[in-house]
Amino acid sequence: MRYILASNNNGKLREMKVILAETGAEVVSQREAGADFEAEETGTTFEENALIKARAACQALGEPAIADDSGLCVDALGGAPGVYSARYGGCKTDPERVALLLKNLGDEKDREAKFVSCIACVFPNGDVLTARGECPGTITTAPRGDGGFGYDPVFELPGTGKTMAQLTEEEKNAVSHRGRALKAFQEKLREYDAHK
Ligand code: IMP
Repeated sequence: MRYILASNNNGKLREMKVILAETGAEVVSQREAGADFEAEETGTTFEENALIKARAACQALGEPAIADDSGLCVDALGGAPGVYSARYGGCKTDPERVALLLKNLGDEKDREAKFVSCIACVFPNGDVLTARGECPGTITTAPRGDGGFGYDPVFELPGTGKTMAQLTEEEKNAVSHRGRALKAFQEKLREYDAHK
């Protein structure tokens, strides 16, 4: 079966395609499938926003659609930027968002944080599958590395001394929130297929 990836974020799309390809599933981005729109993320949780995006793509194209809604939650900032990670402070670019995060955190000692990813898959018959993955880490005082996307250059993985942006794509996918959520999702998809 073919699945539509309901995202226009190139960093996410690349990771989702690589991980989902391991299952043999055929995946294509919604733009490649001819639906060039951005669903409005009006939810207040990662789960709600993932469902909004997957539903919109499924309805527009009439095929099963998978969406990721994800973000960075920083303890000392009360969980911000959270579901607003992509629009933090109204910033337009990743470097601007990273700079704002470092400014807001200042010289705060508690730099604990986590990345969260929620995957939602909506089928044309209305069936829904969801899965969640988290990755704990700490926020650095300056960006390091040029891999990945988003907040990767300031997110350090415990015990490695490396930021997400200093990992290869394969290393990141093995430990990341999205990698974990997609693994849990694959398990649910296998069960769903088995009981159809
Ligand atoms: P959304 O899920 O499209 O609302 O956006 C998620 C936002 O969270 C991205 O634009 C990034 O700023 C951030 N984010 C999500 N996953 C990652 C990641 O794997 N690395 C770095 N930043 C991420």
